[in-house]
Amino acid sequence: MDKIVVPLKERSYPIWIGEESLSALPSEAQRLKFGSRCVIVTDSNVAPLFSDSLAQQFRSAGFDPLIYAFPAGESSKNLKIVEKGYAFFAQHRLERKSFVVALGGGVVGDLAGFLAATYLRGIGFLQAPTTLLAQVDSSVGGKVGVNLPSGKNLVGAFYQPGAVACDLSALRALPEREFRAGIAEIIKYGIIYDPALFDYLERNVQPLLARESSVVAHVVKCSCEIKGEVVGQDETEGGLRAILNYGHTIGHALEAISSYNVYLHGEAISIGQVAASHLSAMQLGLNDESVQRIRNLFQAFGLPTELNLTSAKTEKLFQAMALDKKVSAGEVKFVLAERIGKVVWGQKVSRQQIELALAKLKPSKTQPAKV
Ligand SMILES: NC(=O)c1ccc[n+]([C@@H]2O[C@H](COP(=O)([O-])OP(=O)(O)OC[C@H]3O[C@@H](n4cnc5c(N)ncnc54)[C@H](O)[C@@H]3O)[C@@H](O)[C@H]2O)c1
Ligand SMILES: [Zn+2]
Repeated sequence: MDKIVVPLKERSYPIWIGEESLSALPSEAQRLKFGSRCVIVTDSNVAPLFSDSLAQQFRSAGFDPLIYAFPAGESSKNLKIVEKGYAFFAQHRLERKSFVVALGGGVVGDLAGFLAATYLRGIGFLQAPTTLLAQVDSSVGGKVGVNLPSGKNLVGAFYQPGAVACDLSALRALPEREFRAGIAEIIKYGIIYDPALFDYLERNVQPLLARESSVVAHVVKCSCEIKGEVVGQDETEGGLRAILNYGHTIGHALEAISSYNVYLHGEAISIGQVAASHLSAMQLGLNDESVQRIRNLFQAFGLPTELNLTSAKTEKLFQAMALDKKVSAGEVKFVLAERIGKVVWGQKVSRQQIELALAKLKPSKTQPAKV
């Protein structure tokens, strides 16, 4: 098992990465001096796969675990489910020393973390991410929260877990499309921070898609190291942490205008990252070869890189970008790449440049227009 530490002074925490790494969590709970009562918060897909064995591991270490499972899917990440969670916690008499274990993907991690951050003004919190996206991104860094009808992730908190365990064996059960979507965030780390990771991904497309253990372990580890380093320097997104949003301005807008049911998050940010690479070429002189390498890598992993919006949809995309919660003083700012491995944030981009970038995403063999 590998261990990475997210450096946040007295709130520093370990990320355990490996096959069967969930076994590290009961001893982490002991180290953190949590009380015996805990709730494993999970969803309806993950519960039958892993919750009993995790509960058994906590029981063997002297803890008293309960399981709270809600219906799987983004549509559960809301305040109604949070309220049901609070009711469950109250019914089972959770106390200040009790703790929550988030077992599942990013939806579970965000919701369970929000429960932990707010119940009794904050109880213990451990992360057991089971999707690739959650292992390389959402379980690390302490952003927790839920959606409102008016927008995604509008209610939340920064609440760091006491420990994270990325159990690589859990990824074997993950559907192919979800696995590929997680790779989009890993490619992002290559572009924003680590050219060697980008090269490694180029050289290991098939082994990663085949989920070869050593390759999955390497990319999860590199990703957690990068996210941990960035969050360690800028926990609440005052500066550097913004680089993690590379490709996300257009990606989030695309998710919003398609009502969150066309693209998985990783798919939307694949398109967003390719668009951002075109903007980077226009604005910062990112060279053509790099733009092509970026597009080719997403394509090699079967992720979408093309977009053909009607003018009405393009208008909606601009409206959605203007509503993005990262907008400040009405200005949409982009993270752009100088080269693979080096980005800058806070870049102003004109509407015309975005339109040019979107034009470059049009499929090369467009259908003849129906007249
Ligand atoms: N907090 C953050 O920093 C952060 C960062 C990125 C994304 N997010 C959030 O994460 C969420 C998306 O996370 P996600 O992509 O993990 O989605 P998800 O949690 O919905 O999981 C995807 C699907 O896989 C299933 N699943 C989970 N683990 C499995 C396994 N091992 N085997 C089989 N099926 C499994 C789930 O039940 C679900 O159906 C979004 O809500 C997004 O806003 C948060
Ligand atoms: Zn993302």
